[in-house]
Amino acid sequence: MSRTFERGSQIFEDERPLTDDWDPEELPERDGELGHIHNALAPAIRDTGVGPHNMFLFGKTGQGKTAGIEYKLEDLEKAADDAGLDITSINYNCAGDSSSYHVLINLVERLTGDNLNGHPMSKITNEFFEAVSDIGGTVIVVLDEIDNIGTSDEILYSIPRAKSNGNIPDSMHLSVIGISNNFKFRDNLSPKVKDTLFDEEIHFAPYNATQLRSILERRADQAFKDGVLDEDVIPLCAANAAQDKGSARQALRYLYKAGELASNTGNEMVTEDHVRRARERIDRKNIEKGIREMTLQDQMSLTAVVALEVEGSTPAKTTELYARYKDIAREINADIRTQRSLRDHLLELDLMGVVDATKKQTGNRGGPHYVFEMASDLGMTLDILSEDSRLGDAVELVTTNRSIEEYLD
Ligand SMILES: Nc1ncnc2c1ncn2[C@@H]1O[C@H](COP(=O)(O)OP(=O)(O)O)[C@@H](O)[C@H]1O
Ligand SMILES: [Mg+2]
Repeated sequence: MSRTFERGSQIFEDERPLTDDWDPEELPERDGELGHIHNALAPAIRDTGVGPHNMFLFGKTGQGKTAGIEYKLEDLEKAADDAGLDITSINYNCAGDSSSYHVLINLVERLTGDNLNGHPMSKITNEFFEAVSDIGGTVIVVLDEIDNIGTSDEILYSIPRAKSNGNIPDSMHLSVIGISNNFKFRDNLSPKVKDTLFDEEIHFAPYNATQLRSILERRADQAFKDGVLDEDVIPLCAANAAQDKGSARQALRYLYKAGELASNTGNEMVTEDHVRRARERIDRKNIEKGIREMTLQDQMSLTAVVALEVEGSTPAKTTELYARYKDIAREINADIRTQRSLRDHLLELDLMGVVDATKKQTGNRGGPHYVFEMASDLGMTLDILSEDSRLGDAVELVTTNRSIEEYLD
């Protein structure tokens, strides 16, 4: 039977609050962090000789870092207007950039319209400072998702030092706010960056279920028609997300998808069952996407963890996983790398959130080592890997309980 498109919805009043680009009107769960940001920005309005402090915000994704900084900068701009002060913020997301060079090229293009790709770094840096000087007053550069630039972090010390190096006029203030989803990035920054940038480090810890609940409640109030949410729906979305990564983005996705499932099937209520199905779909999509974007070496490392997890032998040490990894590589005719390389890939998987790595202190010799286990859903991961054209056979092989020797040639 053919369906007709219909206007309006029995479920949704306004879907925008359930989307990612919605700007929340308040973030009371981040009072502490926003207070810290406030204090760091306050010198800009005090106008008593120094500019806003440099800041570094870090925490996993979905913790309100981007929303929080946008919220405070809007506050600051209002206060600046009222006080007649000249304050400009430049909000830039580094998601597509792999180095400081790329970030600077894009910033210069944004500010001047000129694309300087191919020019030496020094020229691009000079152009950037010239463009900033043309703006004048107080300029705040926000570099969101700065972890994408890896160890090429020059921009994070050239901006804080611009004034002392004579790159911008003495009458100006220029500061930088770096935002990172990745803890390793912070640890791996060069010492001179740590020195200049970390006047203010602000950690956004994962939300707990109670906080996620209140976030969802505020947004659901605006998004859903009155009375269409079963009373368990929001607590369930919040609890699911809290158990996983504590991400508000994830919690919102569960809620939105549950609403859509109800709406698509003509239901008048969103129920617990919709949440369960929404969660399955979203989690599966996430794992699929994660696996698709991995290198083959990452995929094989993951398959090794899956194999030991199936047998109940996790958390497992790198040595144990290495034996399994070699079987997998042989089966699919892939390069066999060193045990050390396997460990690096496993730590990479930990960063992606697919695997959990725990550091253990060994007694008398050898220093610390890691043990690994699955972080994402085993059944789903196994399923997805089995369907993979190249890894499928290896999955079958390593998850049967045959001994390793059988495969040695
Ligand atoms: N305390 C909060 N109140 C309301 N919405 C929030 C809160 N924290 C996060 N969000 C919402 O969750 C989503 C993810 O937040 P975001 O700031 O993008 O996270 P991050 O930058 O840390 O990855 C956004 O839709 C944001 O509006
Ligand atoms: Mg963000």
